[in-house]
Parts: sequence; structure tokens; C-alpha cells
Amino acid sequence: MPPGERPHGGFPRVAQNVGPAVVRIAVLNGPNLNLLGEREPEVYGRATLAEIEAATLAGARALGVECSWTQTNHEGGLVDAIQGLRGRADGALINAAAFTHTSLAVRDALLAVRVPFVEVHLSNIFAREAERHRSMLADLAIGVVMGFGAESYRLGLEGLVAHLRSRHAR
Ligand code: DQA
Repeated sequence: MPPGERPHGGFPRVAQNVGPAVVRIAVLNGPNLNLLGEREPEVYGRATLAEIEAATLAGARALGVECSWTQTNHEGGLVDAIQGLRGRADGALINAAAFTHTSLAVRDALLAVRVPFVEVHLSNIFAREAERHRSMLADLAIGVVMGFGAESYRLGLEGLVAHLRSRHAR
């Protein structure tokens, strides 16, 4: 596989916005989210990432959109996944986890790729330590959903799909 080609699965490369019915959403998850369920349940809840994935994919089916799902613990892996969205996703739901607060590389990838995205967090980052109050990504996002636990993903997906559909209808 050539470098940069489908590093994390996802959709086959086709032109963006080929028809009003085709909406492809990619969900990207950053470091330590693979430990959800056992990791600080008082902050993040008891749902595992696999359970959140299943609920999000079911939500996507109900909305009539295609959805891919990725998790990586590595900054470069997240950058590769964002670069891989070009031509393959109409929009993304991104929980960059700790990289939200630190990663200029993730921000640069989003600036380069320009895929519309919604930033999601399980916890309310503004109700936590000061280091978490800054997001390197939020000003690039369509919107940010946080503080609703696993429900943040469902709410973010609904908002993203509504945004993409209204944009398409114009
Ligand atoms: C998180 C919030 C981040 O501050 C933290 O580093 C995470 C998870 C959330 O979903 O609440 O790993 O993105």
C-alpha cells in the first residue's frame, strides 16, 4: 500500500459530495480512549469505546449516512488519519483527547485537509484543570459537543449530518 493510502481503513477514494444521498462520516479518536470503561469512570462514564462505536454506527445507520471509526494512541497516527480523509469523508467527528490541548500537528492537518468536523469530548473540558481549557482545534470546528458522556458522540453526529445536509441543500 503506498504511503498515505488508507492508513486506517475508511472509505474508498471517490469525489466529494458526489450526490445528495451520499454522506460519509469518519469518527477519529485519540489517545487513551481505547481504555474507556475502565479509565477514570467518574469522569468518562462506564461505556467502553466499542459500545460507543456500536451506538454511533447505529445512529449513523438511522440517519442514513456511512460511518467509519478509528482510534489511535499516536499523534502521527491521528495526523495520518486526518490526511486520509481527503476525498473519502464529507465530514468528521473528532475526539482528539489530550492532543486537543497540545497538538499543533493535528491542527495543521485539519487546516490542510479542510474537512468539516465537529469536536467532541465526553467530559466538559472547561470544568476540569486549566490545561484542558484550551483547544487547539475548536476554532476550526463547525461546533463542539462536550460534557454529555457517550451521548456527546450521538449529538455531535446529528449536528454534523444536519450541517452537511443543509449545506448541500443550498
Ligand atoms: C477528552 C478530554 C481530554 O482532556 C482528555 O485528555 C481525554 C478525553 C474527553 O473526551 O473528555 O483523553 O477528550
